[in-house]
Amino acid sequence: MASVTDIESVLKEKRVFPCDPAFAARAHVKSADEYEALYRRSTEDPGAFWAEVGRELSWFEEPIRTLEWNCPDAKWFVGGKLNVSSNCLDRHLTTVRRNQAAIIWEGEPGDTRVLTYQMLHSEVCRFAAALKRIGVHKGDRVAIYLPMIPEAAIAMLACARLGATHSVVFGGFSAEALRDRINDAQARFVITADGGWRRGAVVALKDAVDEAVEETPSVERVVVVKRTGTPVKMNRRRDLWWDELVAGVPAACEAEPVDSEHPLFILYTSGTTGKPKGVVHSTAGYLAHVQVTTKLVFDLKDEDIYWCTADIGWVTGHSYVVYGPLANGATTLMYEGAPNQPQPDRFWEIIERYKVNVLYTAPTAIRTFTRWGDEWPQKHDLSSLRLLGTVGEPINPEAWTWYRRVIGGNRCPIVDTWWQTETGGILISPLPGAVPAKPGSCTKPFPGIVPEVVNRDGKPAATNDGGYLVIKQPWPGMLRTVWGDHARFVKEYWSQVPGMYFTGDGARRDEDGYFWVMGRIDDVVNVSGHRLGTMEIESALVSHACVTEAAVVGRPDEIKGEALAAFVTLAAGTRADDALRKELREHVGKEIGAFAKPDDIRFTEALPKTRSGKIMRRLLRDLAAGKESVGDTTTLEDFSVLAKLREEDE
Ligand code: WTA
Repeated sequence: MASVTDIESVLKEKRVFPCDPAFAARAHVKSADEYEALYRRSTEDPGAFWAEVGRELSWFEEPIRTLEWNCPDAKWFVGGKLNVSSNCLDRHLTTVRRNQAAIIWEGEPGDTRVLTYQMLHSEVCRFAAALKRIGVHKGDRVAIYLPMIPEAAIAMLACARLGATHSVVFGGFSAEALRDRINDAQARFVITADGGWRRGAVVALKDAVDEAVEETPSVERVVVVKRTGTPVKMNRRRDLWWDELVAGVPAACEAEPVDSEHPLFILYTSGTTGKPKGVVHSTAGYLAHVQVTTKLVFDLKDEDIYWCTADIGWVTGHSYVVYGPLANGATTLMYEGAPNQPQPDRFWEIIERYKVNVLYTAPTAIRTFTRWGDEWPQKHDLSSLRLLGTVGEPINPEAWTWYRRVIGGNRCPIVDTWWQTETGGILISPLPGAVPAKPGSCTKPFPGIVPEVVNRDGKPAATNDGGYLVIKQPWPGMLRTVWGDHARFVKEYWSQVPGMYFTGDGARRDEDGYFWVMGRIDDVVNVSGHRLGTMEIESALVSHACVTEAAVVGRPDEIKGEALAAFVTLAAGTRADDALRKELREHVGKEIGAFAKPDDIRFTEALPKTRSGKIMRRLLRDLAAGKESVGDTTTLEDFSVLAKLREEDE
């Protein structure tokens, strides 16, 4: 792990963008004073604040207590009974929202579907009833491996309706990665498709499922959506077509009341070991958190068309494509494919056509758009946009100002939202009518959230000094455990700085109380907004017969944020050539997914290690970044290794 002194902010950004008075006048939170008062109230009496948020949910049985906190174990809205799918659907059916679009979907080839709240409710009930018929029960785990099609949201909501816990696996993961996730969660069912469209090609999801389930004894049934019409093998005893499964099933299925703490979903994310962790989220706390953050951070209005471009396979897709917007009765737009299909203006064309009001995307996408050139957005009328958001990694001020100027017409506020898979929802972000923006800063905590920058010993860092970002009080959307490994939950999140939630990010807080997140301080990298553990990639590399040892580090990359650099030592007699490089990249693609392929692979005779045998990652990071290593190297076991690596670099 890097030491605190390594966390030096290179940002010298001083600009402040005040809130637009016209925007503020219509916002849910209208001024800095209003935000400060709300924040103060929420932290002086968090129970009262969150209880109020909880009252916005629809309950079968009201909770009797807001929080039971036995650090690190939290129970929120204790004693309450509810169902997420009835919160996202049924409660809107008695209002004018019933005939409003819940989901506007566009496929990559240009096909479209609009589902009103009533229609979505029917689809969810029908599919839930069908799942029940094939034996899906409350408490079962269901793996979902789908492209960005409405069925992804329908499947999630149908699971929630039955009280089954879903585990969505991003469609870019390989068969091996899918297999491991299915086995870890012991999923009994898999929901997939015959394919999905990406850059004009079909992603062969069903083939990957077939390969995965050969080694997943827990799986009984595989449900397959017909999306592309690509021929796929169907195992007669195991596989069912979605459309045949639901044919003739009435759209009636009561929502199962579940306990507040019932696990709504598991989502696997990368950590510092080779094994991904199944982050477990609850029902009531999670929903309350995403509902209130969607409303206040995106300043949601009834008439808004809201578009979060994240894939359903990541937490952003869970919280801010599906659950947050639908709980609010909003119209959420889903797009299946790539942003440059057929041309680099697909996003802007979609915004113009549907008159999108709120756009939430990732810095890596923004940097890619800047590279493609202003002419693509400028071909389109983007005047419907009123708010922009970013998530996933620190945004560099250049990309921020481009986003504001070219996409937002210097008119739209930008919310830079900091959060994690583990946090469930947004924790630090401006409220757009109340908190002035500084490019590159996620600004101030959401009401009820108490972040702090601390040193190793847990003491607050001085203003503008780098340190570890921690959260000092529990919040409703926090993860409850790591699936099947509560000890890991305690160790990784609650033991680094005792009594506080350890985020794994380095940050500083400036003189105005603004947070500047500088990125991970552990061995997790952010490649194009995909969170990857370097250990995971190292394990994949050493599983190749030619590799004896591997170290993977991140290096800065203009577009991706970070790129992956692998240092690899080979078994004696192996030819270190480009063919092997290619083979190793393919191997990682097969083990994890194409997005995890290392950008650089360097062969080396040995890796630099400390006397205790730890790989000196800091040196490798400097080498990978092309920086001369200036750090202290006296602990190097073998100086010649570093010299050798440098030579190989030249
Ligand atoms: C990083 C994505 C700076 C951070 C929701 C965090 C950010 C990790 C921001 C979580 C932001 C996310 N500014 N860094 N606005 N948002 N990060 O689990 O390092 O995929 O720990 O969740 O992304 O990534 P994850």
